[in-house]
Amino acid sequence: MTDSSTSAKDSAGPRAFGVDVGGSGIKGGIVDLTTGMLVGERYKVLTPQPATPEAVSRGVAEVVGHFNWDGPVGITLPGVITGGTMRTAANIDKGWIGTNTYDLFAKDLGGRDLSVVNDADAAGMAEDAHGAGRGVDGVVMLLTFGTGIGSAILVNGTLVPNTELGHLIVGKKEAEHQASSRVKDEKGWSYKKWAKKVSKVLDEYEALFWPSLFIAGGGISRKADKWIPHLTNETKVVPAALQNTAGIVGAAMAVDRGLQP
Ligand code: BGC
Repeated sequence: MTDSSTSAKDSAGPRAFGVDVGGSGIKGGIVDLTTGMLVGERYKVLTPQPATPEAVSRGVAEVVGHFNWDGPVGITLPGVITGGTMRTAANIDKGWIGTNTYDLFAKDLGGRDLSVVNDADAAGMAEDAHGAGRGVDGVVMLLTFGTGIGSAILVNGTLVPNTELGHLIVGKKEAEHQASSRVKDEKGWSYKKWAKKVSKVLDEYEALFWPSLFIAGGGISRKADKWIPHLTNETKVVPAALQNTAGIVGAAMAVDRGLQP
């Protein structure tokens, strides 16, 4: 599956490859690191079910192989990664916990630079450098609303990795158990009703981090006009600008920066 959104076919700047591993798809493409745009189209394969480490690694290799790319590759995963090891797996196969991701991906993608980072962290880096956070001073927080809530915190371009604010207890429950877009769908809530839950979570993040800007990512950010106007928190909330390429672009930036959290 390919699409050509946000692509810059003729650019000639430095490049790296990014792969974004999500619950339904493994998406990748070549990224122009100067512009933060895809060079050509992105390619997607379905995420294998169950999404075990070995099966996902084969999917990642298939995406990279589709482009005959043999340079550096950055990869996102939906969990905490420290020292290359995946520590949590809230919304992916539990077999990831304790997996050394570099050993795993090197089996299929050996002999090149690899970087494996949290999915929201990748999207945050991309939005901060090339999207909705560009030029914003102070603390920028990106939140992805999907199956869970992912978070990224950047201070003047520097990422604090693995913030995992979707798991912060707000009131009685974890933030992502009351304000992810999955909860909205499961409960059949209107955008207005769901926005109330999101506001409560954002109020809490504001009180702890005092951000200059919130960037809302995830699929539901494409419908931002339906719910952002209903938010009641203080800090400005804007939809992600790169949308479905942010994870890919951020993954490529991570390997370019030699980021191995
Ligand atoms: C995971 C995070 C991830 C987020 C979005 C959460 O459940 O713990 O690591 O960034 O979902 O995928």
